[in-house]
Amino acid sequence: MVSPTVHIPVLLQEVIHWSGLERASNESRTVVDGTLGGGGHAWHLIEALHPRDFFIGIDRDAAAIDRVTELFDRLLPPNQAAASRSTCRIRLIQSSYRDLPSLMVDHSIPKADCILLDLGLSSDQLDDTSRGFSFRTGGTLDLRFCTEEGISASDLLAKIDEKELADIIYQFGEERFSRRIARAIVERRRHSPVRTAEELAELVHRCVPGGKIHGRIDSATRTFQALRIAVNHELEHLKTAIDRLPDCLAPGGRLLVISFHSLEDRIVKHAMRECAQLQVLTKKPILPSDSESYENPRSRSAKLRVAERVS
Ligand SMILES: C[S@@+](CC[C@H](N)C(=O)[O-])C[C@H]1O[C@@H](n2cnc3c(N)ncnc32)[C@H](O)[C@@H]1O
Repeated sequence: MVSPTVHIPVLLQEVIHWSGLERASNESRTVVDGTLGGGGHAWHLIEALHPRDFFIGIDRDAAAIDRVTELFDRLLPPNQAAASRSTCRIRLIQSSYRDLPSLMVDHSIPKADCILLDLGLSSDQLDDTSRGFSFRTGGTLDLRFCTEEGISASDLLAKIDEKELADIIYQFGEERFSRRIARAIVERRRHSPVRTAEELAELVHRCVPGGKIHGRIDSATRTFQALRIAVNHELEHLKTAIDRLPDCLAPGGRLLVISFHSLEDRIVKHAMRECAQLQVLTKKPILPSDSESYENPRSRSAKLRVAERVS
């Protein structure tokens, strides 16, 4: 399976298998990719669809929508019902997956046979040096998926109370040295605020014993994760969505969620188990194979959980 995108989709074969799309159907089907990203999963899901089917791609990031629109315009044949190799009907929307119920009404989208959420950030966002996702660059420390919403991470760091900041870094980054990092940020901002990703990374490196590299990962990773989760309200979006999305599924429709850390996975696991409309199909999460973990290190922490709408 070859992807024409920068972002290598994780657990791709597993997603296609568990999507249920390989089951024969004469009915028109609807697939929603709630986290379009680089369009990696989308590309392969679309391959499994017929011209009568619908594909809906959603992302909070306008740049992701623009990039994938351009990619699909360039690479996919137009939808012509008479043509044997035409693609399904495609609609790409800038929004949060949390708002799928109202998007379905506004855009007359039928109930979905498959909804995919692949959480976190994409390689395209990491590669964009202007937004601060990659701490090896001098990009502005923004960290928002949608720059029209909320406040940037650098604005948050300029005014947040020290204890609240330490709590964010501890809870969302599971960082043991959260207090030390919060104290250093507050001391620094008295003379110059933290403006770039590089400045924050250097400051964290000075606070964490052992400096820059901690095991296999850069010691700034947990702090960046925490701030990203905070400015995007990621866990609130996920919690709300998991409660709402079962209603957006057709009977027998499947919800697939790929998470990358324990905070997300815990929310998904409990919400799927407790929802009376869903039956969990994966008793244990599906993990990447050794070869995938080796070829795509970003996949190492991925966990896929799948549930089916039963009532
Ligand atoms: C890991 S990437 C998805 C990659 C994609 N599956 C692929 O194969 O290219 C996650 C994407 O989800 C988007 N995202 C994060 N939270 C979102 C939300 N609440 N609603 C919609 N998109 C979201 C991010 O902007 C990012 O582009």
